[in-house]
Amino acid sequence: MKNIKLTRQELLSLLADMSIEEKAGQLAQIPISACMEGVTEPTGPMAEMNLTPAQIALSGSVIAVRKIEAEACAQVVREITAMQPHHIPPLVMKDVIHGHQTMFPIPLAIGATFDEGVAEDMGRCGALEGAVSGTHVTFAPMVDVVRDPRWGRVMESPGESPLLCAKMGAAMVRGTRGNDISAPDRLAACAKHFVGYGASQAGQDYAPIDVSRTELYNTYLPPFQACVDAGVDMVMPAFVSIDRIPCVCNEWLLKDVLRGRMGFKGMIISDWDDPHQLMYHGVAADMREVSKLCIGSGLDMDMMSFAHLNHLADLVREGIVDESTLDAACLHVLELKNELGLFHQPVKNDSNACQESVCGNPEIRKAAFEAAVKSCVLLKNDGALPLKKGAKVALVGSHANEHAILGGWTLDADTESTRTLLESFGADERITLVSPEEADVILLATGEKQQDTGEDTSKAHPYLTAAQMEELRRLHTLGKPVVMLLFCGRPLVLTDALPMCDALLNVWFPGSEGADAIRALVMGDENPSGHASMTFPRALGQVPIHHDRLSAARPHVENAIYVNRYIDESHYPLFPFGYGLSYTTFAVDASADGQTVSAKVTNTGAVRGDTVVQVYGRLQHSRLIRPEKQLLAWQRVSLAPGECREISFRITPDMLRMYDAQGAAVEAEGLCDIAVGEDSAVPFSLTVPMN
Ligand code: NOJ
Repeated sequence: MKNIKLTRQELLSLLADMSIEEKAGQLAQIPISACMEGVTEPTGPMAEMNLTPAQIALSGSVIAVRKIEAEACAQVVREITAMQPHHIPPLVMKDVIHGHQTMFPIPLAIGATFDEGVAEDMGRCGALEGAVSGTHVTFAPMVDVVRDPRWGRVMESPGESPLLCAKMGAAMVRGTRGNDISAPDRLAACAKHFVGYGASQAGQDYAPIDVSRTELYNTYLPPFQACVDAGVDMVMPAFVSIDRIPCVCNEWLLKDVLRGRMGFKGMIISDWDDPHQLMYHGVAADMREVSKLCIGSGLDMDMMSFAHLNHLADLVREGIVDESTLDAACLHVLELKNELGLFHQPVKNDSNACQESVCGNPEIRKAAFEAAVKSCVLLKNDGALPLKKGAKVALVGSHANEHAILGGWTLDADTESTRTLLESFGADERITLVSPEEADVILLATGEKQQDTGEDTSKAHPYLTAAQMEELRRLHTLGKPVVMLLFCGRPLVLTDALPMCDALLNVWFPGSEGADAIRALVMGDENPSGHASMTFPRALGQVPIHHDRLSAARPHVENAIYVNRYIDESHYPLFPFGYGLSYTTFAVDASADGQTVSAKVTNTGAVRGDTVVQVYGRLQHSRLIRPEKQLLAWQRVSLAPGECREISFRITPDMLRMYDAQGAAVEAEGLCDIAVGEDSAVPFSLTVPMN
């Protein structure tokens, strides 16, 4: 392949030749939509933002927040490139979070597949469609460890376990960027939100967090480290603060931790208008100070606050910011452009016809279908599923005829053409759709609205609505089996609804192929195999509740007092992390020999199925208190009826290493209790030595 990249020397010569204004311009991201009618004529939002045509010409990047065709996108890139004094093309960035035009299930559902191959496929397909549509960089993966279902953004994360976030995040990075982001079918990847955003107090978006350094090192940083190790190109500081210093200007976090300790060499971009928060907090008096604080702390690019664009050049010329600081940040931007091959080829595709032929091709849709099948979690089944051939079926509820089953962060997909459940089930000749009164079985498709998941969708009441509960009650009184197909972007509190359901399939937001995937599961063409990526609470008052909480001073003992418990609620969740049923059953027989844990897994039922064998650990002794139970490893196993397979895991001390408040490693020693099973409630039964 011909080398389309500049040499290091060429890149440094370019930097040396650039003016201060040009270098500051490279650190600004502006909206692509504002440039669509010709970059020399600021209209609409651009005029409101008071950006001059000269500033637009110098901008290092554009962000797209809605569907854009390849030709229009290419035109913006070419116009800015032509006007930039050194003809440096802008980076085009977009949120390709769970697919681009073909939507995959939401990332929380991808976590529930416990299948890194699925996460990698999602990254690969999103990159393929995104790149052919003109995007260079995606703001994904999001690897915030999430423990509070009130927070709407849990849907963007692979789940509550640091290991699950790390493995799935790294797989998404690999799938998105491959080995060479200049390839026509790849995007650069961005790990976000660095760091601790998932700990937003009371589940409110943009709320403060208070996370100790020990928790940072042990819980919140590992998924980011996994993404860095997988070659992630960009990192986005979170809207929150560490040690009361906003991440976007937290020098310790960005320089010492991210670049120093974690070895990140790529570009750091702020979140949307995030530098502005320094003024809301009173940390900075004006946007000039904002720019000074952010550049000094290690932020490279400013997304949409224009602090750098309006003030940074002056700060450098006045000697308040060192030109070498500006140079270092600018070089990160130029390096990313170079890795993408933009200096030789600013646009990867400028043909709408090519875009159309790639987006939504059968191979991508097949991958989206398989992801949806593997992500649905069967939470309850008293025998109502799968449906029997010839059954008279009522398909009702708020989501029966709903196209919007794609989930939040759907920018390019066409919601209206997404198949609904009624369209999918209506085409299945094995069943007849009838009214609830005439039915043998009732499918109640219900849950959250797509737009009520994602950013700025915090809920104080993560339940089914009163109207949805009323509908469930009414259907239940008909005395027929009720199967709930639950759409959600977070674990809802289902304690009141559950007794009225004969079966409950949690389908999350399953994406473009969701309706057909759900039908395949409900009809028994496919077998449910997803396992909960977050704990489902029994009561909201239990939140945060997660499998890996730290051990309690007085551990819980059933029916005891003065122990860790509620006096008015069970200690346990409704469904533990890792839980998920199948149409078959499995027996897991585990044993240990030294550090090797083996499990004989047998399909004890009548149909083929997959289960996820999970290994949890807890050190018997350690200087720091440790999680009550920590996910250490897992393996998805697919077995025919009666088939038995032996799998094994090596449990090594690095899996249980902890870090103290200074970030120093506390190595695992002594014995480790091990639990092996199909969810996190499985008791400890084995012991392995750590040395
Ligand atoms: C704000 C969100 O926090 C972030 O995740 C996203 O990538 C940016 N907006 C860009 O849309």
